[in-house]
Amino acid sequence: MTFVFNLVLVTHLLGLAAIIGGYAASPTRVSEVLVWGARAQLISGLVLFGLADSIHSLDKHVILAKMIVKLVIAVAVAGFAEIARADAKRDKMIGWMPHAAGWLAIVNVCVAVLWT
Ligand code: HEM
Repeated sequence: MTFVFNLVLVTHLLGLAAIIGGYAASPTRVSEVLVWGARAQLISGLVLFGLADSIHSLDKHVILAKMIVKLVIAVAVAGFAEIARADAKRDKMIGWMPHAAGWLAIVNVCVAVLWT
């Protein structure tokens, strides 16, 4: 099970790279890479949480408040990314939205690593 957990963690870290890499490559217009990264973060994060919380042999100490904060931020990242992409398709862009998605993802990295 540890291998499965680590495999999902790899997906989670690739999703993170896609969000921040997508934002760095195109800070003013949301890219497909960022949108798919944000979707991957939500799904892989929830799977990691489910595995860590239910499989005791993994020996993970899940902090529920941290998971809730990460979930709220990840939903905001995905929401901003989806809205910004839909707007860009209609050539009606809200300037701050790609920045909000990118920077909130960076906030979530800080929450993930610094909240122990
Ligand atoms: C933009 C969204 C997100 C970002 C940038 C992000 C970032 C990260 C990073 C950098 C790690 C590795 C930290 C470490 O191993 O010390 C991690 C692990 C993890 N994340 Fe996320 N995350 C996001 C969303 C979520 C969501 C929505 C959940 C679940 C509610 C979640 C649950 C977890 C869990 C359970 C781990 C494994 C912790 C461990 O191995 O002890 N993440 N995340």
